[in-house]
Amino acid sequence: MNIIEVNDLRKKYTTYSRGVGILAAIKSIFWRKKIISEAVKGVSFSIKQGEMVGFVGQNGAGKSTTLKMLSGILYPTSGNANVQGFIPWNERTTYTKHIGCVFGQKSQLWWDLPPSDSFQLCKSLYDIPTDEFDLRLDKMVKLLHVERIMTRPTRDLSLGERMKCEIIMALLHKPSVLFLDEPTIGIDSLAKEDLHSFLASVNKQEKTTMIITTHDMSDIEALCKRIIIIDDGSLIYDGSVENVKKRFVKWKTIRVEYSTILNARLLKSSLAKGKIQQKTRDFFSLEIRKDSTNVPELIKKIMNAVEVIDLSVQEPKLDYVIKEIYRKKIHKSSD
Ligand SMILES: Nc1ncnc2c1ncn2[C@@H]1O[C@H](COP(=O)(O)OP(=O)(O)OP(=O)(O)O)[C@@H](O)[C@H]1O
Ligand SMILES: [Mg+2]
Repeated sequence: MNIIEVNDLRKKYTTYSRGVGILAAIKSIFWRKKIISEAVKGVSFSIKQGEMVGFVGQNGAGKSTTLKMLSGILYPTSGNANVQGFIPWNERTTYTKHIGCVFGQKSQLWWDLPPSDSFQLCKSLYDIPTDEFDLRLDKMVKLLHVERIMTRPTRDLSLGERMKCEIIMALLHKPSVLFLDEPTIGIDSLAKEDLHSFLASVNKQEKTTMIITTHDMSDIEALCKRIIIIDDGSLIYDGSVENVKKRFVKWKTIRVEYSTILNARLLKSSLAKGKIQQKTRDFFSLEIRKDSTNVPELIKKIMNAVEVIDLSVQEPKLDYVIKEIYRKKIHKSSD
């Protein structure tokens, strides 16, 4: 069942330009040049209940604008969206009971209050029954190891501590959909791992549907099977993370560590099958094209050429693949 349906969603922003200096400022009181820019240019996709989808794109691609429309903060210029039977921007009061939002750049917690007070306010706002609230909060606080900071003012928390509390806050009322806009920005790798395993367990236990925007591909690799890539307001890929690598990158790397050379001629012809990336006395890594290389045959050849200590065949990292896609501006495609 689709819990999110987005159809030809568009958003135009209107801004006004003015020149530099006092004269231009006075002039702008009477006349300003109107500039209309289209941040989201007809995006369509659907998401099934329980999916975790990575939403990626370069700076200014339109990710936050899309999430703001889906969470009901912004009206679209045109197009439709339906999230769990709601039109987000029309039914905001009831709708917010069903969704949670984490905007990495903007805190939802009260700055001068400790997180525990913000959580209490959230409890009354959403009418969460006391026993359910206590149980849920206790479980999340333990899972994210934030027991010790519950009574410290939010403004004194580190970024990682605050983000853990933001995520707890967004999940207290047990929403069925969670929108996460750069939830791991500026967070160290250990705290990031905590967040990854926490979000994965919430998704597994509660079937919470999640859309995550991020520039950190380790978030996607840890959490999402599916990725949507948006470029300059338009969707350019929607499909599995696995296939994005297969589709856009046509090579793999073979890494070989060896003790002795058994057959120098065979080694030379094996190396000629690809592009040498690195070579030392007892190691080489070779870039090979997936479409024109018979990998099992090449591996057999290498095993006869050298006394292998370790051999691995590696796909490029998602981070590299995404950079290539941005660079080449590949046009709309999907699985
Ligand atoms: N309130 C606004 N008024 C005018 N233009 C805006 C406004 N908000 C965003 N934009 C513009 O819309 C475009 C898309 O912005 P958006 O914030 O959605 O990008 P993003 O994909 O989230 O980027 P980032 O990765 O940097 O967060 C950008 O060109 C941005 O300058
Ligand atoms: Mg953004």
